[in-house]
Amino acid sequence: MTTVDPSAPPLPEQAEVDDTIKLITDNADRIFSWKYDRERPQLVTLYNKAMASQWDSMNDLDWATDVDPEFLVATTQKDNPTVAVARAAKDVPGSPFKNWGEKEFTQLSIESLKASLSQFMHGEQGAMMVAAKIVETVPWIDAKYYAATQTMDEARHTEVFAKYLDLKLGDAYPMSPYLDEQIQALIEDSRWDIAYLGMQIIIESLALAAFGQMLRATEEPLLRKLLRYVLADEARHVAFGILSLGEFYENLSSAELFERQEFMAENTIRNRARSGIPEVWDRMGVPLKTAMPALQEGATKVDQSLFTTFQHGFFGKLVPNTRKLGLLDANDGHLRKMWGEAGLMEYEFADSTADDYDTYDAVAADRAAAAAAASTD
Ligand SMILES: [Fe+2]
Ligand SMILES: [Fe+2]
Repeated sequence: MTTVDPSAPPLPEQAEVDDTIKLITDNADRIFSWKYDRERPQLVTLYNKAMASQWDSMNDLDWATDVDPEFLVATTQKDNPTVAVARAAKDVPGSPFKNWGEKEFTQLSIESLKASLSQFMHGEQGAMMVAAKIVETVPWIDAKYYAATQTMDEARHTEVFAKYLDLKLGDAYPMSPYLDEQIQALIEDSRWDIAYLGMQIIIESLALAAFGQMLRATEEPLLRKLLRYVLADEARHVAFGILSLGEFYENLSSAELFERQEFMAENTIRNRARSGIPEVWDRMGVPLKTAMPALQEGATKVDQSLFTTFQHGFFGKLVPNTRKLGLLDANDGHLRKMWGEAGLMEYEFADSTADDYDTYDAVAADRAAAAAAASTD
């Protein structure tokens, strides 16, 4: 018979465990490689760069920085479409926001920022698991090495977003069902390159756009530095996806490439409208169902360019990167046609993340500036 040590901490109730974990079955094979030759010089360069530009979440960020949430949202959330729509919805007849003043709109800005940072945090954990999956499933040793550095990067990203939320803003929001579904599908997929395509090309492009937009808006110094350092890593992750998949897709059949083109269309055009965090409205005391009619009317009054800034950032990364993989033109331009109809081909030459990851390297830039300052002292 086992005896229970009375001083041991109690085990959590099953419901509590179910609330905080989720089981996902990965259907991909693990690959052990005995070929250690460094055959991919661009991946070797990227891996060496990743090692040199690792940063330290404890010492490189000043966690003692005092953060005032109201000051924070005054800049970061200035052009936030959610807040703009709620303001426009205030005067709609029967609006649940009719008695709202600046206090409530500021609170909505804070909740909306917390919801965004929470999605960054959950997405980063997803990225950590997908990068670990790539370590296990990719057949090339240079790619395994690189993905191992990315796994560490994503651990640090998850940690810093969680810490920022916890120390500076209070509680976090749950993962949006859309992001949850997307990442679960990548972890489950039996084809190793789909984890790359979904994470390194689609979600990383999304992250570059979202972090970049927040960085341009905010004046809060701790969040600024955190985002600059995270962005420096993310630019390398996108480059990793392009270098690896570009090679792999040269040798796929038309039928296999067609599947990848459909995957890209499915995860961009067809899913575009599905985002938003309904819990924000619950916390504001106006459930989304009640708020929806006034919000819809408010949205028609708001300058639509507020909604498109982010889309420009995202597709401006995604479309050029997809072109580099050869996925636009395979099968008589199947994806080019679908994206063309959705108005996305204007972005074909918008950006070049694969080659310009060095220009994002804020870590190296800060270290060079510190060394230059020390040498003139
Ligand atoms: Fe990340
Ligand atoms: Fe990443």
